[in-house]
Amino acid sequence: MTADPPGAPSFRIRELRWTDFDDLIRTYWLLYEERDAGYPIGIGLFQERPTLADEARWFLRLFEQVQDGSMVASIAEGDGHAVGGCYVHRVGPSETSEAAHMGELGILVHRDWRGRGVGSALLRDALARCRGKFEIVRLAVFVNNPRARALYERFGFVPYGRLPKALHRGGEFIDEDLMYLDLGRRDENR
Ligand SMILES: CC(C)(COP(=O)(O)OP(=O)(O)OC[C@H]1O[C@@H](n2cnc3c(N)ncnc32)[C@H](O)[C@@H]1OP(=O)(O)O)[C@@H](O)C(=O)NCCC(=O)NCCS
Repeated sequence: MTADPPGAPSFRIRELRWTDFDDLIRTYWLLYEERDAGYPIGIGLFQERPTLADEARWFLRLFEQVQDGSMVASIAEGDGHAVGGCYVHRVGPSETSEAAHMGELGILVHRDWRGRGVGSALLRDALARCRGKFEIVRLAVFVNNPRARALYERFGFVPYGRLPKALHRGGEFIDEDLMYLDLGRRDENR
């Protein structure tokens, strides 16, 4: 086995695998601890952490959607584990829907792997997979998550509005910015 050259990322981006379930759920469940510790998690959560059975249903659905082509999923693997994922699901209910050209993006990196380029690499890969499948990719980012917003802007996402009180957490309401990327107009060099 050869060592990575200095400066090379210690992760790689690949497709979703059936065996990623445990790793992805562990990362998601950690969000509940992060939220309770006051970290401004950029993902809307439930009051209580979902059960393993809930997660199994979620993962099955995710996997099905990737298999039937209505979802794009890019997975980051580091140290032999899935450490992050970027998902873009088709907005329209079916391939023949008049909204089938739109995808909605979500992204999550394990807390120990943030700030190392994983999120950027996931976005780059997921958007490349979206080409030819979706015309528009949209997302929502809470206003208390300026780092994620800066990341999306770097990839060419454009704000198109703000939804007030999109999230109710810890007795406070948090607004969210709505952003879109027109893949037809995306700068290939990003
Ligand atoms: C947002 C998120 C996906 C970014 O992933 P990441 O792997 O940290 O991203 P990168 O390392 O590629 O860095 C992206 C930018 O975030 C900044 N960043 C650095 N450390 C960071 C940290 N601990 N957390 C978040 N962003 C960080 C970097 O400065 C970088 O900007 P730069 O390239 O201009 O320096 C990740 O922080 C995450 O999973 N957050 C929790 C879930 C969430 O908020 N998802 C977004 C929902 S809209």
